[in-house]
Amino acid sequence: MTRKILVLPGDGIGPEITAQASRILAACQAHGLDVEVEEGLVGGSAYDEHGEPLPAVTLDKAKAADAILLGAVGGPKWDKLEDLTKRPEKGLLGLRKNLGLFGNLRPAITYPQLASASSLKSELVAGLDIMIVRELTGGIYFGQPRGIEVRNGERVGFNTYIYSESEIERIGRVAFEMAQKRGKRLCSVDKANVLEVTILWREVMERLAPEYPDVELSHMYVDNAAMQLVRAPKQFDVMVTGNMFGDILSDAAAMLTGSIGMLPSASLNESGQGMYEPCHGSAPDIAGQNVANPLATILSVAMLLRYSLGEAALAERIEAAVGKVLDDGLRTADIASEGTRTVSTSEMGDAVLRAFDAI
Ligand code: IPM
Ligand code: MG
Repeated sequence: MTRKILVLPGDGIGPEITAQASRILAACQAHGLDVEVEEGLVGGSAYDEHGEPLPAVTLDKAKAADAILLGAVGGPKWDKLEDLTKRPEKGLLGLRKNLGLFGNLRPAITYPQLASASSLKSELVAGLDIMIVRELTGGIYFGQPRGIEVRNGERVGFNTYIYSESEIERIGRVAFEMAQKRGKRLCSVDKANVLEVTILWREVMERLAPEYPDVELSHMYVDNAAMQLVRAPKQFDVMVTGNMFGDILSDAAAMLTGSIGMLPSASLNESGQGMYEPCHGSAPDIAGQNVANPLATILSVAMLLRYSLGEAALAERIEAAVGKVLDDGLRTADIASEGTRTVSTSEMGDAVLRAFDAI
């Protein structure tokens, strides 16, 4: 059965990095992977063409795909759009919501070759391996009511931070199961000293815990979690949290590893359909210069193969190829250090392909 992959390059560096990831996908096809790959527009580039950041044609293709590979969306060109619903970010949020991609997996792994590229001391981050499980289709990102309106003669802005028990439970189960497959420690991050919604969050996590007796559950307030991530990050195995806290903590965790340019992510729904994207953004400042790091997107292809297509062997092969290229001392500018060779986006893609074919 031929499976369908939709590639959505997006904006900024998105097209350059997905181009390299698509070459890896093509190499997998040459090694027998039976997939049909098509492309679509999302974000600012979709707005320019169709007047919408998530055109119906893209959404239809996305619904029909087994997996989606996304580059990145957004850029200064569209930041001034008055209508918030037309902003590129809405394309991404619309895909997540429409496909029900509630389970966001954001690994933060330090490659031994890159420990010195971290802004923290190498001994704090060497061997780091954290998995952040972020709820992606609820919380304050989507809660109603929301808006900006005039009250008592002045404008007020408001959003609603809301989670139902069932939403908390389903992301909780993803996180507990993830912990079972890893180090068996789960830290749930909340703000239960202030926010009712996260008091409920904590209660539901506690209620699930007896069903996963092999997992040790702990709780941490989000401010402390942010501090602990930069103080002693290796204390964490799996972290689970809501949409906004997860957005913030996953950027911090990513930077521990040396570069956000290295980290892939997966967003899954209940039927195993997934969207895969690098954790970093569209980096408009370096777009079009062939200097961006394509590794996070290439590693996203590995996650796609593992989680949506059940092709673990090919996934491992891609990951090993990335490791080999780093061993060989090749670096894009964001991870360059003394004694390494700085290469361009496409040269990095060439090197990973060579290593992939040689394995
Ligand atoms: C992310 C991004 C998005 C988010 C933006 C682009 C809407 O920061 O995927 O982390 O906030 O979820
Ligand atoms: Mg973010």
